[in-house]
Amino acid sequence: MPRYHSLGEIPHKRHITFNNPKGGLYQEELFGTAGFAGMSSLIYHLYPPTVVSEIKRGKDIAPKIAIDKNMRAMSFQGFSLPKEEEYLESRKILFTNNDLRIGLAAPASFSKDYFYRNSDADEMLFIHIGSGVLKTMYGDISFKYGDYLIIPRGTTYQIDFDTETNRILFIESSSAIESPKRYRNNYGQFLEHSPFCERDFRLPQNLKTHDEKGEFKIISKKQDVLWEYTYANHPFDVVGWDGFNYPFAFSIFDFEPITGRIHLPPPIHQQWEAAGFVVCSFVPRLYDYHPQAVPAPYHHSNIDSEELLYYVDGDFMSRNNIQKGQITLHPGGIPHGPHPGAIERSVGKKATEELAVMIDPFNPVMITEEAMNLQVDDYYKSWEIK
Ligand SMILES: [Fe+2]
Repeated sequence: MPRYHSLGEIPHKRHITFNNPKGGLYQEELFGTAGFAGMSSLIYHLYPPTVVSEIKRGKDIAPKIAIDKNMRAMSFQGFSLPKEEEYLESRKILFTNNDLRIGLAAPASFSKDYFYRNSDADEMLFIHIGSGVLKTMYGDISFKYGDYLIIPRGTTYQIDFDTETNRILFIESSSAIESPKRYRNNYGQFLEHSPFCERDFRLPQNLKTHDEKGEFKIISKKQDVLWEYTYANHPFDVVGWDGFNYPFAFSIFDFEPITGRIHLPPPIHQQWEAAGFVVCSFVPRLYDYHPQAVPAPYHHSNIDSEELLYYVDGDFMSRNNIQKGQITLHPGGIPHGPHPGAIERSVGKKATEELAVMIDPFNPVMITEEAMNLQVDDYYKSWEIK
């Protein structure tokens, strides 16, 4: 997050003594990215964050690939993914390439027996159903339906879910997930024509310092292995921090749509960007207002990117028979477009209630066995007029 934030107590200069009134010094940690050149935060712990008593190599969770090369338009019923008791077990990768992984999760709970840390990737969690609190050493972030949670790699977290019914679309990104640079000025501030601004981002709050010793398990995902670390101190033993690298939330309902007299292309919906993909938010909005405007999108060839659309709510104007939680995958290299009748149906319409998240990977994605369990048969034939 390219914006300075601070919670709790910090010394007046970095890298100087910071006395713990109970004796000794607080322990400073630089939580940085891209070597020492990326975003970072300075964190002050009660105890060193390095006191490990055991490291076990746990489960190998590399996704099993069903289709490595795909040129078919495909679709998947996300809500057919069975609910699982536990958060980590519930995370199922559906699509993968070197830049990102895209998955779904339907957890009933997040066990308090462990903390989770994704050391491979930055995470985006999109909350389709559910609410709760994301808990990290930076503080808490409350979340609910429609929220994106962006969690930088290496962030140790737990989630308190309010209920046992939760559905999450998630991305694991090999690079930082950021708001589009074209919406920010040289100082990082959002420009006036950006569909969102600083006020729309929800940062960690309520920093609580856990002064607890014992055995604390952190499950750390690295190279598709879940490593089990046992630490002697509670990982949220932080008295204060400041910097630019921390988790945050953004509600899709705070995305202010950009509209025009004639159809505007998907970049107006752009929400996030990373190396190798973008994410767009399609939100309820007024349609194009030229008297002869065709609000439905034109047929288009996304020659050099895949296009994955995750349907959240409302009627999606360009598709027929789409369910909540359904995903369409339109591979790069071939044209796709509205279903039969959708263009004609859209003419004269004034507004849409559609809500969807689009993920465009620039490199082809492989499709996993978990995805194939959710596949809609013969979706690629769905443009045939019968
Ligand atoms: Fe498209």
